[in-house]
Amino acid sequence: MENKKPRLVISTGAGMSAESGISTFRDAGGLWENHDVMEVASADGFARNPALVHQFYNARRHDLLKANPNQGHIALKDLEKYFDVYIITQNVDDLHERAGSSKVLHLHGELMKVRAIEDPDKIYTLDEEHLDTTPDSTDSEGNHLRPHIVFFQEAVPNIERAIEWANMADIFVVIGTSLVVYPAASLLHFVRPGVPVFYIDPNPAAVDSNVKVIRKGASEGVAELTDILLKNLQTR
Ligand code: OAD
Repeated sequence: MENKKPRLVISTGAGMSAESGISTFRDAGGLWENHDVMEVASADGFARNPALVHQFYNARRHDLLKANPNQGHIALKDLEKYFDVYIITQNVDDLHERAGSSKVLHLHGELMKVRAIEDPDKIYTLDEEHLDTTPDSTDSEGNHLRPHIVFFQEAVPNIERAIEWANMADIFVVIGTSLVVYPAASLLHFVRPGVPVFYIDPNPAAVDSNVKVIRKGASEGVAELTDILLKNLQTR
């Protein structure tokens, strides 16, 4: 009988999409250098000045429309040939989906979606012709729309599922995150003891000594990771 594919669980952050031309948050020139995070990405900020928050995410959508998946996204999709790949992403872009990855869990929401404030189960995907929303935008029932983004000060609804995924990993990989935002950064703690952990980042945060750090950008780093994983697979 054919062996089951090992479960490869990958947690990605803004650095994953940097080579696609999408700004990270905390690098030099990153989004939080030019925008006050508490004004544009917090629940209080949205209550104070919803127009500014809509404007901020409208601009992000226009940037996303110009971007394409990079070699790193594509190489993660290719790993599905050998592994049962689960991607947990802090990114709100849809580049993993556009690269073809089949299991993608968004921790911080999705840029191309909006939801009804009065009925949060009503979630809509925007099309390319209608990227811009304002505080006056409504659905056909008159509900007001907001970005389908997890603002700071809000709960992270997908964290429990992400913890389950981290906990069932046979191999765990972190790519392109500064590991400062919780609870996403805590996922590493739910990986079972003895499971190999890799961290791809050109400027990695401090991590435990058991984590194998690949100090490279996402495209080069995923290529190196693929070589290591495939070699290990052959020697299993
Ligand atoms: P950060 O901007 O905090 O960190 C980006 C990371 O990407 C850094 O560790 C960089 O070294 C790394 N990086 C830069 N270029 C890279 C490349 N080419 N390849 C790989 N890595 C590269 O972004 P996140 O950790 O994702 O949340 O930020 C977490 C959350 O903070 C975001 O989801 C967002 C933000 O506030 C919300 O808005 C809710």
